[in-house]
Amino acid sequence: MDRERMRCIQLKDKIVSAEEAAKWVKDGMTVGASGFTPAGYPKAVPLALAKRAQNGEEIGITLITGASVGDELDGALTRAGVIKRRFPYQTNDDIRNAINSGKVQYADMHLSHVPQWIKYGFFGKIDLAIIEAVAITEEGAIVPSTSIGNSNVLVEEAEAVIVEINTSQPLALEGIHDIYSPANPPHRLPIPILKPDDRIGTPYIPCNPEKIKAVVFTDISDKTRAVSEIDEDSKSISKHIISFLQSEMKADRLPSGLLPLQSGVGSVANAILGGLCDSNLCNLQIYSEVLQDSVLDLIDAGKVNFASATSLTISPERLGDFYKSFEKYRDKIVLRPQEISNHPEVIRRLGVIAMNTAIEIDIYGNVNSTQVNGTRMMNGIGGSGDFARNAYLTIFTTVSTAKKGTLSSIVPFVKHVDHTEHDVQIVVTEQGLADLRGLSPLERAESIIENCSHPDFREGLKQYLQESLQQSKYLHTPHLLHKVFEE
Ligand code: COA
Repeated sequence: MDRERMRCIQLKDKIVSAEEAAKWVKDGMTVGASGFTPAGYPKAVPLALAKRAQNGEEIGITLITGASVGDELDGALTRAGVIKRRFPYQTNDDIRNAINSGKVQYADMHLSHVPQWIKYGFFGKIDLAIIEAVAITEEGAIVPSTSIGNSNVLVEEAEAVIVEINTSQPLALEGIHDIYSPANPPHRLPIPILKPDDRIGTPYIPCNPEKIKAVVFTDISDKTRAVSEIDEDSKSISKHIISFLQSEMKADRLPSGLLPLQSGVGSVANAILGGLCDSNLCNLQIYSEVLQDSVLDLIDAGKVNFASATSLTISPERLGDFYKSFEKYRDKIVLRPQEISNHPEVIRRLGVIAMNTAIEIDIYGNVNSTQVNGTRMMNGIGGSGDFARNAYLTIFTTVSTAKKGTLSSIVPFVKHVDHTEHDVQIVVTEQGLADLRGLSPLERAESIIENCSHPDFREGLKQYLQESLQQSKYLHTPHLLHKVFEE
């Protein structure tokens, strides 16, 4: 037994193999798991569970996590046919295909809503929580690893808890977490975060040790993704955003260190944060969901003073060095439950600048982030809605064309709406930036078409708007819908 990591004497008899622990999962259960992006999710127990199903056992579960997780959980359990229902976000190819072929029932949700739904039982009773940890304290409290997500609420609400102590995750992570769980209304108090670096909770997840039924040791590492090359389109988008933020500073609408930044994940997000590294901006702060390599670069470059999130997703190439020089980052990072990282109250109070990516954006500013062609689920809304609705400044980016330039990502009408025109202030493509603040729908349409659409599609979009103006009965938000909906 590793006494540094397993400090609770009462639980030492609960240390078992992953196969033994997986027996706690029964057909029909609702299982909650730690994990937010491929960081901090349980690995050994899900793999053992998948094996049971592959060996012919009939077993189906509802799986609730913080957000997306790695292949050992979403992938292995989908391939084994174990996941029947899934909330609230995913990015794994196998589960995405199972969702789109109707084999898995899935609902993507605002990530800040999930903890409340768990607490009120909207998903039913949580039978079991499987939580990855770096250690268990003397009192049985759980010290999470590279993400928190919904772990604290799952532990609070689950009938039984399995802890996976992962020795590939350094014990040095202990202390970077800040666990706080708001009470239910009418007893809920203001969340006392006034700055991204405020600490308001405990560095561990409180847990009655009686609830912990099994403890498994494993050393399977997080399967984080390599950071993709930043392409020219992403660089152009980043340049447009940074020069816009600088002009907002000149206009005294942003302070010199900007306001706390939230940024989605992926190539464009990395390019924006990378662009900040090369800019003259400094004293920046992050209040986001996920911290990626680009945030480490910003800290290294002395540009970012502090970063708050719910997950730490460092690429495989960078992870070793990150852990070696962890002490350098320790007092500059905090991980919080997603209920807090994505909380509307805090996002609004801090005046966050939210930057997220769209699949397509329509001429009036409505955004589709989730459904390709309106029906093929990509990932889910994730935290983009939590931030978009509540931020001081809401920016959506997309490359102006898709499918090798054959489709325009600026369209007359999005085929699915995730973020309405009321939540979208700035639209950016590699072509340029449209500032929609203070504009009417018609003015917005003109600005988006002029500044953001690709020249190959610009005339067609202008023609659509022109025909809508000529043929619509009502000219506030003109569309050619009268052909579909006769009035
Ligand atoms: N029309 C049709 N298809 C389109 C399209 C368009 N305008 N734009 C993109 N697509 C297709 C791509 O071709 C690709 O399809 P494929 O899987 O067949 O290759 C797919 O949509 C994804 O596009 P891609 O460019 O690879 O996406 P991305 O990596 O830039 O991610 C989102 C874009 C929107 C999917 C991603 O940002 C997301 O999931 N956002 C929602 C959640 C979120 O914002 N999370 C962060 C919040 S904190």
